[in-house]
Amino acid sequence: MAFTGAGISAESGIPTFRGPNGLWRNYSPEKLASPEAFLNDPRLVWEWYDWRRQIIHKAQPNPGHHALVEMERRAREQFTLVTQNVDGLHDRAGSRNVVKLHGDIWQVRCTGCGKGRHDERVPMDPLPPLCPCGALLRPAVVWFGETLPESAWEQAVEAARRARVFLVIGTSALVYPAAGLVQMARQSGARIAIVNPDPTPADELAEWVLRGPAGDLLPRLL
Ligand code: OAD
Repeated sequence: MAFTGAGISAESGIPTFRGPNGLWRNYSPEKLASPEAFLNDPRLVWEWYDWRRQIIHKAQPNPGHHALVEMERRAREQFTLVTQNVDGLHDRAGSRNVVKLHGDIWQVRCTGCGKGRHDERVPMDPLPPLCPCGALLRPAVVWFGETLPESAWEQAVEAARRARVFLVIGTSALVYPAAGLVQMARQSGARIAIVNPDPTPADELAEWVLRGPAGDLLPRLL
């Protein structure tokens, strides 16, 4: 099993959430990615998502994403890729079975009628965007305080429980419940490997801590 976070897309030029380049106009992700922030200032939250959509739109998958495609191909059905990322780069690289815990930045959902749809407008205009029903659209991503999509979470837990080797790639392992998958896998007997240039709280659960960028280490791991 591989479990990825924003760090795997860093080498594609997409800023991570935390760390030196992680802040946007001095707002922390917790301040922007929440239902309260959206209620308070939907335009501000949409400006942040619009900025990220513009960056992601131009970005290409990097050798780290491609290495995971190859791992899936070699392992056949015995491999699950669980991601916290909403950027879609695993799909674009060619990974087939991607479990998305935090949604998808290219999906929007109406806050009024609840209807979801694919939306690739870049830049988003008008901002904030409206549903034909007249209510505000929101990004179909999971915000702080919201529950994860049930089926994605179930698939992730099942894979963590079954995993023999669990790769933790490019995540600060700070955001729960997603980060709890590492403990679950460990308790079920998986051997844990971390791929990250910096320390994380998950390191103490790991048998291997590989320090460096995913785009360099994952192809070498193959
Ligand atoms: P973070 O920004 O918290 O952490 C990114 C991690 O990537 C850090 O541990 C970095 O050291 C590491 N990193 C940086 N460059 C790397 C590289 N080239 N190769 C490998 N690792 C690298 O991002 P996440 O852990 O993904 O949630 O954050 C978790 C969640 O918090 C996100 O899914 C998002 C955010 O708020 C939601 O949107 C709900």
